[in-house]
Amino acid sequence: MNRPAPLTLKVNGATHLVSAAADTPLLYLLRNDLALNGPKFGCGLGECGACTVLLDGVPTRSCVTTAKVALGREITTLEGLGTRAAPHPVQQAFIEEQAAQCGYCLNGMIMTAKALLDRDPHPGVETIRRELSRNLCRCGTHVEIVRAVQRAAELLAAQPAATAAQQGTHEGARA
Ligand code: FES
Ligand code: FES
Repeated sequence: MNRPAPLTLKVNGATHLVSAAADTPLLYLLRNDLALNGPKFGCGLGECGACTVLLDGVPTRSCVTTAKVALGREITTLEGLGTRAAPHPVQQAFIEEQAAQCGYCLNGMIMTAKALLDRDPHPGVETIRRELSRNLCRCGTHVEIVRAVQRAAELLAAQPAATAAQQGTHEGARA
C-alpha cells in the first residue's frame, strides 16, 4: 500500500512533517505523532472542548478538524503558551485559583480563555461564562474556572509593557 504524502503542520512555531491521510483528525496527529498531549480526547464528537487548540488564534476542536483544514495555518497547543518554569498568565491564574479537580477539561478552558482575552482583555463575568459555555466540565469546577479567567485578565493587565511585548514575541515565535 502506498504511504500518504507527508503533510506539513506548523505547530507552536515549528514546522513538522507527518505521514498521514489528509482526513486524519488533527488531534490524533498532535497527540500520536507529535507527542503534544495538552489537547485531550474527550467525546471525539466536537462537543466537550477537551481537544481545543488555536488555529490562527481561533479556538478549534481538533477532534473534528482534519489535518487538511489545518495545513498552512498556525496551530497553537497548550504547550505553545508557556512552560512549567514560565507559565502563561492564563495558566498562572488557573494555578493560583486552583481551578481544577480532575483537570481533564482544563486544556479546552485555558485555550478558549486565552483566545477570549486576546480579543477582549477585560471581559465581564457573563462574557466569560458565555465563551466557556461549550466547554464541558464534569467535575463542576465552573466557579473557580470563571474566577481564574478574571484573575488572568488582572495578571495580563498588570504585565509591564516590555514583558507583554516579550510575551507577544514569545508566543508569536511559538504560535
Ligand atoms: S474531544 Fe473534541 S470536542 Fe470533545
Ligand atoms: S476539572 Fe474535571 S472535567 Fe473539569
